[in-house]
Amino acid sequence: MEVRPLHPLFAAELVGADLRAAPSAELIDTVEAAMARYGVLVVRGTAIDDAQHKRFARAFGPLELPSRVPGALRPQGTRVFDPELFYAGNLDHNGEIIAYGSEGYKLAQGAERFHTDSSFHTMPTKWSLLLGHETPPPAAGGDTWFADARAAWDDLPQATKARIEPLVGIHDFWEGRRRAGLKGEITPEMRRVIPFPRVDHPLVRTLPSGRKALYIGGHCIGVVGLDPAEGALLVEELYAHATQDKYIYRHRWQQHDMTIWDNRCTMHAATPLLSNAFRRDMRRATINESGAEISAYDWMGLAEA
Ligand code: SIN
Repeated sequence: MEVRPLHPLFAAELVGADLRAAPSAELIDTVEAAMARYGVLVVRGTAIDDAQHKRFARAFGPLELPSRVPGALRPQGTRVFDPELFYAGNLDHNGEIIAYGSEGYKLAQGAERFHTDSSFHTMPTKWSLLLGHETPPPAAGGDTWFADARAAWDDLPQATKARIEPLVGIHDFWEGRRRAGLKGEITPEMRRVIPFPRVDHPLVRTLPSGRKALYIGGHCIGVVGLDPAEGALLVEELYAHATQDKYIYRHRWQQHDMTIWDNRCTMHAATPLLSNAFRRDMRRATINESGAEISAYDWMGLAEA
């Protein structure tokens, strides 16, 4: 196996790994070491099924189980195949293409703003492992951008670091969607159907490696103890800093690619789909550092509407 850098700051490709077999100790060590160093790891040509995908993910931590979002508001990717995987892409539950920009797609377009998965959850995730079962051709959109939030932290002026390191960010699912372009009012009914409350996470995280990273993905909308407008402005400034071109690796998908990212120190965003002619079937395992395999709803004691 070989790990080849894809970007000057982060992101690498793992070549020569076979994810169809039960993960060996060597594979697990190689992936853990590459993730600690690069934050994003690409494995091409995996050709694995859902069971192999989950087995590989579980070698690195317990799965975060998807919360069952009711039909009317279900993100378009929530194809009900495997209840332990999250779905992204442009297919509905019947496997038909949902037109980009249509009513059925709008909630999913929240993924086009840089975010870290489940930051609206009190138990923030370790990694996500996204597998492209069907991917659009090059130039049809649907790439995934990754941003290195460690390098963004490293480059901040010392005075800014000292000011923001003790601060705590406020994360809100619905306000995050609004900032991602969801039009119209966030109604009490929407909050009843997807009832994630506001949760707090440190604005700056220290990784097991000792490196620090900004934790300001798209659901972060303010700062505890600051005036709401002042907190939102600070978060927007940090977000603009952390999403500069120099911190971004753009992944152009090929069928059977897996991308693995560390949600604690990277952000990611889907790019818009430029055509409705192509299927994008993406399935994601997300893992926590430790604990039970449980959904955010169950962990947070939220009732399904
Ligand atoms: C995600 O945000 O988890 C998926 C990103 C993508 O579909 O490219």
